[in-house]
Amino acid sequence: MTDAMTQAAPDAGGAPATAVPALEVREAAVNLGGVKALDGVSLTVHDGRLYGLAGPNGSGKSTLLAAISRLLDLTSGNILIGGADVMRRSPFQVAQLGLARTFQTVRLMPQFSVLENAMFGADQAVFGSSFVKQWLMPWWTRGREAQVRARAEAALDRLHLMDLRDELPLNLSYGTQRKVEIARALAAEPHLLLLDEPTAGMNRAERDEIGELLLRLRHEGVTQILVEHDLKMMVDICDHLYVLDSGHRIASGRPAEVIREPQVVEAYLGRGRRAAA
Ligand SMILES: Nc1ncnc2c1ncn2[C@@H]1O[C@H](COP(=O)(O)OP(=O)(O)O)[C@@H](O)[C@H]1O
Ligand SMILES: [Mg+2]
Repeated sequence: MTDAMTQAAPDAGGAPATAVPALEVREAAVNLGGVKALDGVSLTVHDGRLYGLAGPNGSGKSTLLAAISRLLDLTSGNILIGGADVMRRSPFQVAQLGLARTFQTVRLMPQFSVLENAMFGADQAVFGSSFVKQWLMPWWTRGREAQVRARAEAALDRLHLMDLRDELPLNLSYGTQRKVEIARALAAEPHLLLLDEPTAGMNRAERDEIGELLLRLRHEGVTQILVEHDLKMMVDICDHLYVLDSGHRIASGRPAEVIREPQVVEAYLGRGRRAAA
């Protein structure tokens, strides 16, 4: 292979264009109540890398993550995970492809303990919809619960939450609830992890802890897309940064370079300046 072939193409998400991408978004458009929340967005995500997805409020970041996880339909365009067409699959089937996610707002089940919440993440990923097996083979169900519990405990341990395993979410600080959400996603042992502002509401120490965790996951080969307002954190930990503005992709490249591009500076600062004027 020549050097030229191993060079990243400008839009290839920073990796050789020859590899089968972990995720491909092709010309994705989403109309929400007359608003073009996404308008022709394309991006490529390669295995084992940590991608940042930035952009001002309302630029379409959460909409893009919702489309990838099949929680809303594209108006046009296509999304592939590992070459598989996501648009033909349900959210559950997309999880079976190895995708897990956290949400911008806490979505824990308040009546269940921290451990049980994490077990829901593991359960879906490990066993899928094998209801017939559960029904016919009680011994199998017992083995299943042990496996799900072990996965959930391992995920909680990674976030130093094992001491809180029997607590109800409402007894925890907001930052800790966000950590439980991350543990729930990790319990699925995903190949592709989508994180929508996972550090919102966390203090500095918690944010640093999450940053280190995401780097460790990257080291383990988990592909990640991180939505995060702290651009310094993006520059510090992400391999590649995509930036959206008003539903359009306005930048793609090395984080430290992308945040200096004039259209990115304008998207972040110009709006504030205009609002202040
Ligand atoms: N449920 C909805 N109904 C109508 N418009 C929505 C809905 N959700 C988001 N939008 C609009 O879609 C655009 C993109 O929103 P969003 O993806 O949440 O942006 P971001 O996550 O980048 O802040 C915004 O203009 C927002 O007002
Ligand atoms: Mg959002």
